Amino acid sequence: MQVQFRGIQAIPVKAYFALSGAALGSECPETAQALGLAERYEAFTGAPGQIACIRDYQSGSATVFVGLGDVVSPEALRRGTDKLVAWANRQKIAQLGIAAGGLQGEELRSVAEAAVMASYRYTEYLTSKPERSLEQVVIEAEDSLLAEGQEGVALGTAVNVARDLVNEPSNVQTPLRLAQEVQALGETYGFQVELLAEEKIRSLGMEALYQVSKGSPNPPVVIIMRYTGAPECPEDITALIGKGVTYDSGGLNLKAGQRFTTMKHDMAGGGTVIGAMCAIAQQKLRCNVVAVVAACENLISGRAYKPGDIIGSMGGKTIQINSTDAEGRLTLIDAITYAIRYEHASRLVDIATLTGAARRILGEYGAPVLGNDDSLWSTLEAGAKGSGELVCRVPLVPDARAKIRGDVCDLLNTSLAETGGMVTAALFIEEFVEGKPWMHIDAAGPLWLDHDMPYTPRGGSGWGVRTLYHMVKGLAR
Ligand code: BES
Ligand code: MN
Ligand code: ZN
Repeated sequence: MQVQFRGIQAIPVKAYFALSGAALGSECPETAQALGLAERYEAFTGAPGQIACIRDYQSGSATVFVGLGDVVSPEALRRGTDKLVAWANRQKIAQLGIAAGGLQGEELRSVAEAAVMASYRYTEYLTSKPERSLEQVVIEAEDSLLAEGQEGVALGTAVNVARDLVNEPSNVQTPLRLAQEVQALGETYGFQVELLAEEKIRSLGMEALYQVSKGSPNPPVVIIMRYTGAPECPEDITALIGKGVTYDSGGLNLKAGQRFTTMKHDMAGGGTVIGAMCAIAQQKLRCNVVAVVAACENLISGRAYKPGDIIGSMGGKTIQINSTDAEGRLTLIDAITYAIRYEHASRLVDIATLTGAARRILGEYGAPVLGNDDSLWSTLEAGAKGSGELVCRVPLVPDARAKIRGDVCDLLNTSLAETGGMVTAALFIEEFVEGKPWMHIDAAGPLWLDHDMPYTPRGGSGWGVRTLYHMVKGLAR
């Protein structure tokens, strides 16, 4: 599906956003008359998501209304656009005009991004693809807002890139294959990609990552993405770190039953930072960003790391493995140390499907965030406002640090306590940030959906791509 910005006079099917009480922004008499008909004959009230269509059988044209509820907001517009796209596909319509004349820049961006996100389906492995009639959405927009409309298209496209990466099954998407996909994305969107193979991982001392990976015949790969949009401030570098476990079986602390089937999505944090890099580079933001995804598989075999093992890390601290299923943090810490020591990161944001505990905070609706820097938190929170995604801050409880202190080595990879698992996971990562401003997003709730959500079909959601983009934009000069 393609989005264009131009007049919609010539397009036979035109859509309008309407408020509760069937109130309209536009004063055009024909549209007002059609709205009157929708009210009278289709019981249209402008309630959120409600759709009414008034056809002119003589000319073959149609006027569609979608309800926004009481206020025009970016999120109401995203959801309204989602309903319009679904409606158009049900009606087998190929081209849809959307009247967006009175909208502000952020509102126009929201309509454009939602049109792209709502059109997404993962059809790679269907031998007969379900029909999606909608080929083109034309959004009527003032010339002065064109850049914001295009930004919305770029963001929606980047979200869909992340979704594709997450939905790809792990038998196909090994760490190396993921790395190759990122190389192709770097070419397309304009960021530099460097890969570290197993030998290099070992010679750099990334032992925590290596230990997680070594039960799998598929070797680990560290994927480094660089974008330099502010060459005049080379010392200002934001690092985005994404968990890239392409499959998590739990290792010898094997998972049970149902928990296996969706664990291809354990690289979804990586998918989010990869998607964010696409949007950042495509929009040529004036900032320097490095993204690091330490990709590997957590499997069982005679070579797998074991509960009770004591391992090293690139940062130097020694770690006792209390659970081989607490593998994500081990991969993240070496990626973080690498970003600090070799990429000279001045601040760090990581995103990961790290703990089941995090899913209990906001469910699939949002992600808890922990970290050591109030100003970086504010920028991240503002980024989430820009995307309409939900984050909440949880404190790094100082007393809980005792739970991950080791007896015979420095740290435990997880506390054996049943409670506070999200906090101890974050505290473990904090041990490796070397005092840099850092925020940790535990997005195990929203990154994978088992049911459809607004403009987001079930499966990989692409959550966080837009939030990270807006955060980075907020840091740019
Ligand atoms: N990838 C999982 C977390 C997860 C669980 C993500 C469910 C999405 C859905 C992670 O590696 C994990 O296994 N975490 C354990 C940690 C525990 C062993 C300390 C958890 O949260 O149960
Ligand atoms: Mn695990
Ligand atoms: Zn995991």
